Amino acid sequence: MLNIIIFGAPGSGKGTQSEKLIEHYKLFHISTGDVLRDHIRRGTDLGMTARAFMDQGQLIPDELMIDILASVLDDHHEEAQNGVIFDGFPRTIAQAEALETMLAERGTAVHHVVGLEVPDEELVDRLVKRGLISGRSDDNEETIKKRIEVYHNLTAPLKEFYQERGLYRFIQGTGTIDGIFDEIKKALD
Ligand code: AP5
Ligand code: MG
Repeated sequence: MLNIIIFGAPGSGKGTQSEKLIEHYKLFHISTGDVLRDHIRRGTDLGMTARAFMDQGQLIPDELMIDILASVLDDHHEEAQNGVIFDGFPRTIAQAEALETMLAERGTAVHHVVGLEVPDEELVDRLVKRGLISGRSDDNEETIKKRIEVYHNLTAPLKEFYQERGLYRFIQGTGTIDGIFDEIKKALD
């Protein structure tokens, strides 16, 4: 079993590299952003709540997010047999601690944290460009800058959290998509 967290700022390539990882290592992909956007599309109560936070570039409250993740894990127990790639979770220390407990209760753990590091200016460029076609309501310059600020304040401290546990794998997140994927494979194998 291989559980990987793909970690990085908005626009660092978490979704892009996750697609290659799930194919190569046959893992189950959980993108919390995709889970929330699916709720918004279906117009659920959770979707209504989530939308207000996402449109402001803010995080959904920890307690709610942790409950959502636990239920996704339980609903997809079978597909997650080989392991999971966590994309966009954890995003706070409280979420990271909850994930440790949740995985321990299920007899497993986080094995690697792949940290995609990309300068802020390139993140903004990538997301502004994506905003022209993505239809994501948070892909406008103002909200993008807010998302990056929230990342630095609340999420970036997780790098040290995972370095202390010997799990953080630094990956230069700039360059070609295939070149970055080669570096990730080298770090994992
Ligand atoms: P989420 O959906 O996770 O969005 P995000 O973290 O802002 O990241 P993105 O999906 O925008 O970027 P990415 O890193 O996946 O990059 P991608 O591969 O797409 O979260 C959205 C919101 O949901 C949050 O703001 C929050 O409100 C809420 N939320 C989610 N999880 C939560 C949690 N755990 N707790 C609380 N709230 C939560 O690439 C970006 C672009 O760059 C693409 O156009 C891509 O084609 C391009 N690109 C990729 N690689 C390269 C490359 N090497 N060179 C050039 N361009 C590249
Ligand atoms: Mg993504």
